[in-house]
Amino acid sequence: MAEQATIERVKRAFAERFGGEPDLIAQAPGRVNLIGEHTDYNDGFVLPLAIDRGTVVAARRAGADVRVYAADFDQEDRFTFAEPVEGSDWRNYVRGIIAMLVEEEIAPQGMELVIAGDVPQGAGLSSSASLEVAVGLAVAKLAGVEIDMTRLAQLAQRAENEFAGCACGIMDQLVSARAEAEQALLIDCRTLECRPVPMPDDLAVLIVHSGVERGLVDSAYNERRQQCEAAARHFGLAALRDAEAEHLETADGLDALARRRARHVVTENARTVQAAEALSGGDTARLSTLMADSHLSMRDDFEITVPAIDELVALLQREIGEEGGARMTGGGFGGCVIALLPRSRVDQVAQAVRDGYRPPNGKPVLIHVCRPAAGAGLLSA
Ligand code: GLA
Repeated sequence: MAEQATIERVKRAFAERFGGEPDLIAQAPGRVNLIGEHTDYNDGFVLPLAIDRGTVVAARRAGADVRVYAADFDQEDRFTFAEPVEGSDWRNYVRGIIAMLVEEEIAPQGMELVIAGDVPQGAGLSSSASLEVAVGLAVAKLAGVEIDMTRLAQLAQRAENEFAGCACGIMDQLVSARAEAEQALLIDCRTLECRPVPMPDDLAVLIVHSGVERGLVDSAYNERRQQCEAAARHFGLAALRDAEAEHLETADGLDALARRRARHVVTENARTVQAAEALSGGDTARLSTLMADSHLSMRDDFEITVPAIDELVALLQREIGEEGGARMTGGGFGGCVIALLPRSRVDQVAQAVRDGYRPPNGKPVLIHVCRPAAGAGLLSA
């Protein structure tokens, strides 16, 4: 859920740009992942939650073409459904999800959209998924269609796969579409079943931006995905979700690198299911170990962390001890670290981060304490 100021900004921009009022306003949140990294495209488990930042879209049926104004960039895009989707900035995401809805015949001919968001970009908090889901929901509603939220997430994922060049899994779009307030969501990425896991009242979610820019992320991400798929083929399995410890032990002919990649996925899946149990049971010592092991596995087996992030995670783990945990979150190679910790210790731990961590980009460290938010929906226009 975006902040109130963002909603006001969208309303004002709509009146200035197109005049009058929108027919509807939709929002979709960004996300942070508690645990379960690079497991989604292996048909595995993930445990994300929606954050209290998101994308807001004000929309109205009008004319015969599509006009989209991105208030954050002060840029407008104008197109018809007949045009191919191309480009690499925000326009691509918008055109991509609209193209998906057009294919499903759930988009009105002409429309005016105004978009604004407050998910930090390039931070690994899924600003793009929140953009795709918010636009998709707004357009489907404009067409008068009650779209199933899982279907919407699947279309948004396809838009990202086909038009943004990232072979991402379903986690970001699905949690943005289906999250519930004050809950994390245990998602089975094979069946797409979502089980809400209540967040204990006394635990805070702290997101710390490492200040590491995420360069060339898509190619490294896609490479990890290919390595996982190759390992699954080697085992004769549909996906690494089906691999067991025995597969790893008897992985004859599988090279050492592919074996480590597979080991990350197999162990991370098990950790994710256990973390959901530990979270609902308030077992912070167990969460602490699971998050620490997840980070090590990302560092050593999947090789998606960077030294500055390892250092930040170590600092947080030292401060928090067994009262919570810390690990890198998201696709990797930069972005954010997530920590769980007692609410009463947030100020002290945040200060320790400010004192002890120097982000490589030279900027002050960004720390956000967030409440698990609800998924996408309509706001009153
Ligand atoms: C990115 C992708 C997700 C997921 C994570 C890693 O956020 O979009 O589908 O694979 O990385 O867990």
